[in-house]
Amino acid sequence: MKKSSRKVVIAGNWKMNKTRAEAATLIGQLANAPQNADVDVVVCVPFTALETAVNAVKGTAVKVGAQNVHFEKSGAFTGEVSADMLVELGVEYAVIGHSERRQYFGETDATVNNRTRAALVAGLIPILCIGELLEEREAGITEEVLSRQTKLGLAGFTADEVKRIIIAYEPVWAIGTGKTATAEQAGEACGFVRGVIAKLYGEAVADGVTIQYGGSMNAKNGAELLAQEDVDGGLIGGASLVAEDFKTIIKAAVGV
Ligand code: PGA
Repeated sequence: MKKSSRKVVIAGNWKMNKTRAEAATLIGQLANAPQNADVDVVVCVPFTALETAVNAVKGTAVKVGAQNVHFEKSGAFTGEVSADMLVELGVEYAVIGHSERRQYFGETDATVNNRTRAALVAGLIPILCIGELLEEREAGITEEVLSRQTKLGLAGFTADEVKRIIIAYEPVWAIGTGKTATAEQAGEACGFVRGVIAKLYGEAVADGVTIQYGGSMNAKNGAELLAQEDVDGGLIGGASLVAEDFKTIIKAAVGV
């Protein structure tokens, strides 16, 4: 399967930004973003803004995602939110295993795997994040790290489940640093991850999986990154907080 037959997903990861009022304003500014059937646009907003976002996207093609999801259905897990709670709100996507969760909140490949399973069971589309640290790239073990995170993140899933998962390749050294991976580096790493999935599930499954690039993607570099054969969209932090910048990236994906 060629890139042209894979779903492209442009997802904004707002992180801990935007009040409900600000969220409604920003989503309102996205309403006139270009669209086509091959490109999904998602805003992954803080938990507190989810309901506002779900209401604000009504009548537009924009979809709403959360930035995390717990792996149990309910229970004594103070501070956590279950997949069913998100689905009830009208949320359709969940970012899982973002490097900030791995770095600051003790997220591991095992918890990432569990959260991804819970998301799938509830009907959410997981955006499973992987990516190497700067010291790992410098030590020449990028592929080893990506292979391990992909295999452990997807452990125990059937081919049909894997088809419903989006992978976000985000080199940790490029996140929020203004240091983007070159288009070649991004394309190469996403292609490598596709190869890992092909070994586990076969070429046909791997060819259908959406693999995003994330890490300082912006209005200037978006088109070049998205043009890479194995880059099927972006997970965008800083630039997704500015409507015009996010729309420029959407335009590059839609090809208008
Ligand atoms: P950034 O963040 O675009 O601000 O680098 C990307 C991400 O963390 O998902």
